[in-house]
Amino acid sequence: MTSTSTPPGNHSLGIDVGGTGVKGGIVDLDTGLLIGERFKLPTPQPSTPDAVAMTVAEVVAHFGWHGPVGVTYPGVIVDGVVRTAANVDESWLGTNVAQAYSEALGGRPVTVLNDADAAGLAEQRFGAGRNHSGVIVLLTFGTGIGSAVIHNGQLLPNTEFGHLEVGGKEAEHRAAASVRERKEWSYKRWTREVSRVLVAVENAVWPDLIIAGGGVSRKGDKWIPLLTNRTPVVAAELQNTAGIVGAAMVSAGAR
Ligand code: BGC
Repeated sequence: MTSTSTPPGNHSLGIDVGGTGVKGGIVDLDTGLLIGERFKLPTPQPSTPDAVAMTVAEVVAHFGWHGPVGVTYPGVIVDGVVRTAANVDESWLGTNVAQAYSEALGGRPVTVLNDADAAGLAEQRFGAGRNHSGVIVLLTFGTGIGSAVIHNGQLLPNTEFGHLEVGGKEAEHRAAASVRERKEWSYKRWTREVSRVLVAVENAVWPDLIIAGGGVSRKGDKWIPLLTNRTPVVAAELQNTAGIVGAAMVSAGAR
């Protein structure tokens, strides 16, 4: 990987692309902490590959960064190619995502992975999963529901529990954080739906621990105690930096 001005130390730039924001930060890969600020731009609408790639390039330019870059994408990527686009523009389908980002960055190599997979890697290494072995499931509650499955530190990529059918409805249409906001539900009302989704997930993979991520994990004390599923659930600890940290980890080959 070419690099003209990578700062000294074990650092990398991670960028987390979501349905509403494109967020970046330079990550200390020894601690999982950001070096300096987190920088966020709104996800362009329509969120086409070209428009999102330009926003990614603006984030890279903001940091004046010339080293390795890891970027997330909020959907399934197989062999570098986008296979699902639930919460971004449909024109992503079939796009070679690493190539799209790399072209916007003047040909610099870019590593890409699913947003929830990135968050799961980061939480397992530096956050709520760091002292746990066995099977960890991370679910991110945001515009949709993302998922990551990690077994003893190894990621099983591209799990999509947000699209499981639960009681005749897609899990993310039942229990994403955006559903709570749209329906103006209390945490108590929303948590009923989350419990149903968690039961479906735990019946399928029997995790040892579930980590609840996404912005709503900041308010975890309001709703995690109300859950009625059987697996222990803890709030994510890295919160709005998990995707950034995970993206930086893979870009640097830190895993
Ligand atoms: C996508 C996942 C993604 C999640 C969170 C879902 O709709 O299918 O791949 O991780 O949203 O962005």
